[in-house]
Amino acid sequence: MHEQALIDTAKALVADGKGILAADESTGTIKKRLDGIGVESTEETRQAYRNLLFTTQGAEDYISGVILFEETLFQKADDGTPFSKLLADKGVIPGIKVDKGAKPLAGSPDEKITEGLDGLRDRLNEYREAGARFAKWRAVIDITDERPSDYCVHVNAGALARYAALCQEAGIVPIVEPEVLMDGANSIERCEAVTDRVLDAVFTELKRQNVLLEGMLLKPNMVIAGKSSPQQAGVDQVAEATIRCLKRRVPAAVPGIVFLSGGQSDELATAHLDAMNKRGPHPWALSFSYGRALQAPALAAWQGKPENVEAAQSAYFKRARNNGAAARGEYSSDMESAA
Ligand code: 13P
Repeated sequence: MHEQALIDTAKALVADGKGILAADESTGTIKKRLDGIGVESTEETRQAYRNLLFTTQGAEDYISGVILFEETLFQKADDGTPFSKLLADKGVIPGIKVDKGAKPLAGSPDEKITEGLDGLRDRLNEYREAGARFAKWRAVIDITDERPSDYCVHVNAGALARYAALCQEAGIVPIVEPEVLMDGANSIERCEAVTDRVLDAVFTELKRQNVLLEGMLLKPNMVIAGKSSPQQAGVDQVAEATIRCLKRRVPAAVPGIVFLSGGQSDELATAHLDAMNKRGPHPWALSFSYGRALQAPALAAWQGKPENVEAAQSAYFKRARNNGAAARGEYSSDMESAA
């Protein structure tokens, strides 16, 4: 085992005032994002977009690591430098999404199981060779009156732990992501109860499979009302429910918790993280591993046009800076109007 290296990398990913950019959209997901701005998704446009993000000057002051999709890990920046080297040279740790997506769960096909364990040991060695030092696996749990089933929670927890154990064997820090979706009409209380159940199952499996808690990060959802719930919770309520739930279920040995944004607006995702850190200190670092909440304004500014690259980079820089402040509990909404 590479225990000390795993611990050092996990800590570096949640260094003070820093968090993670999730730029690991699969080919299908990035197509949706590019369709949204009227840009055709090709290998070239995907490279151009990621080049824009990764060459944003100064973002490295707030971004500790970037999660890449496999295609991007093996792509090069405009100047010919492999993306993984370009990031590492700036002190940004390259990471890789290693799951193969959430598929219908046999025996309960309305629910999902994340696939990708077959051949993972060999793939992890290739990714490490290409520069990846951490990885991500996302399990997807939805909420209805009847779901999630215990079966769904249990098999996803098992797969997350198996992935985490394989990562650590390969010297790669696993980010364990059990995402309870915020798409439903459920209350915040129901989200808290489901998140509690899911985290309980995940940490039971991680223990059973001998995962080193000090050498991993947790990437959970925040505890929040479903998007179509008529009763949306305020920022303070979300912060309090999320911290209460995490304190009950996440051992203090885990160095950091990096939230997904899950479809929250970019400013709200920042405000929630800030409110949690203003209530600190906590047993673990609380930071971000946002996809949409870091990228949405940059995508909108870019529109696929070279003349908009600078505006897109400043939009991304601003979200990175503001979330860096939120990771310290030092954000204020005035920062949204500041240059
Ligand atoms: P969002 O922040 O857009 O939810 O994406 C984070 C992520 O990596 C989901 O797996």
